[in-house]
Amino acid sequence: MTAAVTYECIKVCQQSGARLGKLHTPHGTFDTPMFMPVGTLATVKTMSPEELKEMGAGVILSNTYHLWLRPGEDIVEEAGGLHQFMNWDQGILTDSGGFQVFSLSDLREITEEGVHFRNHLNGEKLFLTPEKSIHIQNALGSDIMMAFDECPPYPAEREYLIDSLERTSRWAERCLAANKHPDRQALFGIVQGGVYEDLRKRSAEALTSLDFPGYAVGGLSVGEPKDLMYEALEYTTPLLPTNKPRYLMGVGSPDALVEGAIRGIDMFDCVLPTRIARNGTCMTSAGRLVIRNAKYARDFRPIDEQCDCHVCKTYSRAYIRHLVKANETFGFRLTTYHNLYFLIKLMERVRDAIREDRLIDFKDEFFEQYGFNQP
Ligand code: GUN
Ligand code: ZN
Repeated sequence: MTAAVTYECIKVCQQSGARLGKLHTPHGTFDTPMFMPVGTLATVKTMSPEELKEMGAGVILSNTYHLWLRPGEDIVEEAGGLHQFMNWDQGILTDSGGFQVFSLSDLREITEEGVHFRNHLNGEKLFLTPEKSIHIQNALGSDIMMAFDECPPYPAEREYLIDSLERTSRWAERCLAANKHPDRQALFGIVQGGVYEDLRKRSAEALTSLDFPGYAVGGLSVGEPKDLMYEALEYTTPLLPTNKPRYLMGVGSPDALVEGAIRGIDMFDCVLPTRIARNGTCMTSAGRLVIRNAKYARDFRPIDEQCDCHVCKTYSRAYIRHLVKANETFGFRLTTYHNLYFLIKLMERVRDAIREDRLIDFKDEFFEQYGFNQP
């Protein structure tokens, strides 16, 4: 049986060790490293699928937990699956609900069987298990499904992390057994273990022995200092097979995307660009720009003079500031479009730099301009 999703490594950057590759899925082939916009409720907030395509988004991420609660995976399945339901014919990755159960609900209780918790919308008691998560993801029909895991908080006790990662490994095995469509839906394992090198090794060994078609690094960007995250990546990615894709979950700041690629990561997702866009914060080549600021009232330049997106070619800071301050939906559409374009384009520049063995030089120039190197 051929796997639903396969990774092809094109080249490794001689200067940084980053990988340039292709991800082949049942809904198209995508260049890596890449950034996946987040469409939690079967929509990337304020964007149409046509706009996402125009900006070059390949794969988007959606959430098992949210679609289970509403409209219900049965309705999505009846529509012909998530691609058909939301009119998106490219890649879809679904997160398992593991993370959302921990970040959105209170009163949760973890057992060997699964997690008891309350619906964050109405307080109703719910129970999510590895089998249930895969059942829902099979009904949604995503190209890449994620194993049901526990994402422990930071900081966490070593002893707790050991229990947690061992349970996550047992859950991973149950997820694999529950997948009804391994030929068209790939299931990725998630390595946990916090910021302990030996625990990451334990988790990676358990998961790689199960032979998933791809691996995620989970449990990072949960409040730990950035240098600890980079260090964790440095010792974790070498534990993963070189012929499979590696996905760093929940990371999307421009600096972390470049640093992650340098440490061998192929895929990223994060709500950051879309979330900050909805309060009027723009990512630009010179750093973050808060469009509500009074100094932009008469600024008729584009959000980012170096950006060639449709928004920057057409609208001014003054106009977008006016819309955002007046709470006009169109203003948030414009900032969202620009921010997603900025990250998608950043990944394109990262890929060009890998191709030409100059990703460290690119990082230095990019960080200098963005202002990351300032004290
Ligand atoms: N999103 C960000 N981090 C994680 C993680 O550790 N697990 C899952 N399932 N999703 C995530
Ligand atoms: Zn732009």
